[in-house]
Amino acid sequence: MGSSVEQNILVTGGAGFIGTHTVVQLLNEGFRVSIIDNLDNSVVEAVDRVRELVDPDLSNKLEFNVACSVLRLSWNLQNREGDLRNKGDIEKLFSRQKFDAVIHFAGLKAVGESVANPRRYFDNNLIGTINLYETMAKYNCKMMVFSSSATVYGQPEKIPCMEDFDLKAMNPYGRTKLFLEEIARDIQKAEPEWRIILLRYFNPVGAHESGRIGEDPKGIPNNLMPYIQQVAVGRLPELNVYGHDYPTGDGSAVRDYIHVMDLADGHIAAVRKLFADPKIGCTAYNLGTGRGTSVLEMVSAFEKASGKKIPIKLCPRRPGDATAVYASTEKAEKELGWKAKYGVEEMCRDQWKWASNNPWGYQKKP
Ligand code: UFG
Repeated sequence: MGSSVEQNILVTGGAGFIGTHTVVQLLNEGFRVSIIDNLDNSVVEAVDRVRELVDPDLSNKLEFNVACSVLRLSWNLQNREGDLRNKGDIEKLFSRQKFDAVIHFAGLKAVGESVANPRRYFDNNLIGTINLYETMAKYNCKMMVFSSSATVYGQPEKIPCMEDFDLKAMNPYGRTKLFLEEIARDIQKAEPEWRIILLRYFNPVGAHESGRIGEDPKGIPNNLMPYIQQVAVGRLPELNVYGHDYPTGDGSAVRDYIHVMDLADGHIAAVRKLFADPKIGCTAYNLGTGRGTSVLEMVSAFEKASGKKIPIKLCPRRPGDATAVYASTEKAEKELGWKAKYGVEEMCRDQWKWASNNPWGYQKKP
């Protein structure tokens, strides 16, 4: 709390998976928050649940106090629909209130879809972000935390991945992240008053410990953990394990899974760094645990947490997948004072709580 009470943060994509968890933590830390989200891959219900979670006095009685809860918090949490591709939507927000910083999550993130439809990715991710920068500059709000991804390391030659490694895009989605990092560096170089932190996420999983908010992808999940979760609740019959002949301990690929609440806290640390450090410039940080876990280890951990058997089918490698990717966490630890607290066991425990309480995500069973 303390000095942050008056700080007002705009969160783009705040209704999404990482957005909702970060908004909960921002509110808990005393920040004011406005969300802009076009609901492309998210639902209003998720923001309603964020409102419940941040008011402990009302959380037990939510069903009877919704209006009251919304009223009490509406000064603090505004939920507006809006699309970053329409400059007018962003302009409306900035003309009504002053923002101290922006956390920019909004963007599309499915690798396969980006290969099939790159224009959609360039339109959403690039145009949306350029519009955002333009409006921020106009209203003299020049602090930004940007959602980048470990995808900018491509197929890393060495692990752990360090922030000063060469960067490479493997597909149109990755290219948007790489371009947006370069755009951020160019803007900050030309206009040194900007302070921009690029957060390179490894593999975000888990859910809020309440089990009330979590990841709810539309359609068949692309990513491992949402897929496992849907097998566990009986929505999908079995997991395809892509690759069992990698040069790893058990032949399956290795990733750095990070609990979404750790990731959310990483954003709080980044925002505080922006406010505290006028010399931050444009700086990238990895948000990972520094530990690698294989696909098969993840399956066993989830089976243990859920008590459910996850049937698997061993399949060929997925094109474009790297053998092993995990983060060096030193820079974030040293400069942001942030370190992941949770391990794979907690990630699976919290994700199972979300899955078992919400087998169909935010929807009712169809
Ligand atoms: N996997 C399976 N079966 C599935 C889904 C995934 O075996 O049904 C495997 C993948 O082949 C991979 C691992 O699980 O070995 C992790 O796959 P994810 O799709 O969950 O995550 P990725 O590491 O491929 O991708 C993540 C982010 C991307 C980002 C990339 C950068 O989702 O946005 O990291 O490393 F680009």
